[in-house]
Amino acid sequence: MTTLFKTVSAESLKDNFFSRLDRDWMLITAGTMAQFNTMTASWGTLGILWNKPVAICFIRPQRFTFQFAEKHAFYTLSFLEEQYRDILDFCGSHSGKDTDKVAQTGLKPVELGAESITFEQARLVMECRKLYADFIKPENFLVREIMEKNYPGKDFHRFFIGEIVNCYSSSSPFSIL
Ligand SMILES: Cc1cc2nc3c(=O)[nH]c(=O)nc-3n(C[C@H](O)[C@H](O)[C@H](O)COP(=O)(O)O)c2cc1C
Repeated sequence: MTTLFKTVSAESLKDNFFSRLDRDWMLITAGTMAQFNTMTASWGTLGILWNKPVAICFIRPQRFTFQFAEKHAFYTLSFLEEQYRDILDFCGSHSGKDTDKVAQTGLKPVELGAESITFEQARLVMECRKLYADFIKPENFLVREIMEKNYPGKDFHRFFIGEIVNCYSSSSPFSIL
């Protein structure tokens, strides 16, 4: 394991994840060091399910990241230092299908496990083991306008419930965690 990060328990996190997600955003990354993809996301949930700490992320099927999340047993959620906002902007507006995001942004990949990749720029990382996945289904909406507003293209998210098997915080003295 890299010395860039130190292990912390999920329970010890003081972050407000409503603003971390909605305002600060995160990177969802899946794959191996040889082949991975990452994308910006701001929708997600954290909590307890099946007596485990879990993170749930939502990925539309047209994202390049989708096929990596489908194929691999793990994904990571990486929260970057605020100074890297431009990286989040880039990874949320360009696809790995036609861009090398690492080369374009200067993201520095770090291998936490064979199928768990994050980046040196992260201040907090959640390593998640996939437990359950399904698509949002149009027939299950109880408030129809949410579906109409968010899925005019019928590109329903697939959600991945992952057990948070490890949390890492940056051991940089400049980290605000
Ligand atoms: C702030 C922000 C939040 C986003 N949240 C999500 C999300 O939760 N789920 C999703 O599927 N796409 C989300 N996106 C869109 C993807 O990041 C974007 O389509 C990206 O280019 C996909 O990259 P990829 O094709 O390499 O996977 C978000 C974009 C931005 C800018």
